[in-house]
Amino acid sequence: MEKIAVYPGTFDPVTYGHIHILKRAAKLFDKVIMAVAADNYKKTIFTAEERIGLIEACGLQGLNNVELDIFNGLLCDYLEKKGAVAIIRGLRAISDFEYEMQMGSLNRHLNNKVETVFLMADSEYSFISSSIIKNVAVLGGNIEQFVPDKVAEALREKKENRIFS
Ligand code: PNS
Repeated sequence: MEKIAVYPGTFDPVTYGHIHILKRAAKLFDKVIMAVAADNYKKTIFTAEERIGLIEACGLQGLNNVELDIFNGLLCDYLEKKGAVAIIRGLRAISDFEYEMQMGSLNRHLNNKVETVFLMADSEYSFISSSIIKNVAVLGGNIEQFVPDKVAEALREKKENRIFS
């Protein structure tokens, strides 16, 4: 039976850290669905469609077992619908642990067939988050080393159009 995993997140925007986790997950599962959360409680600067477009621009062409999707509602319901057995999450630091533990436990209580698989972020990416990148971008810092060119460009555009400040 095909083992499907879902790599969910807000991805507002996607970073090299996310792409690294995705590529590693794609080696472990038959199929990985990178799923952009459309309606979670976080205020985003990119629409779900824009976030998907930015992920598509990340050079994932060689990853034949990766799909991109947008999901609404509960993550565990989405996994059920997709016939997925695992949730992939990246762990950067101890500070991530509390939130991830809560989310992983909650998801297993909501659906006990679902396991969360944590991949430790590579040290090169352990300090990168979408929020910190947005913060550097808005202050005019160099973000090219942390995100693909298209993402850096999109962040500059949002800043110029005062979509975020
Ligand atoms: O990248 P993020 O913001 O840490 O991702 C969080 C996300 C989207 C995975 C989480 O908020 C989520 O699963 N949202 C969907 C709604 C849901 O299932 N909530 C209950 C589990 S937190």
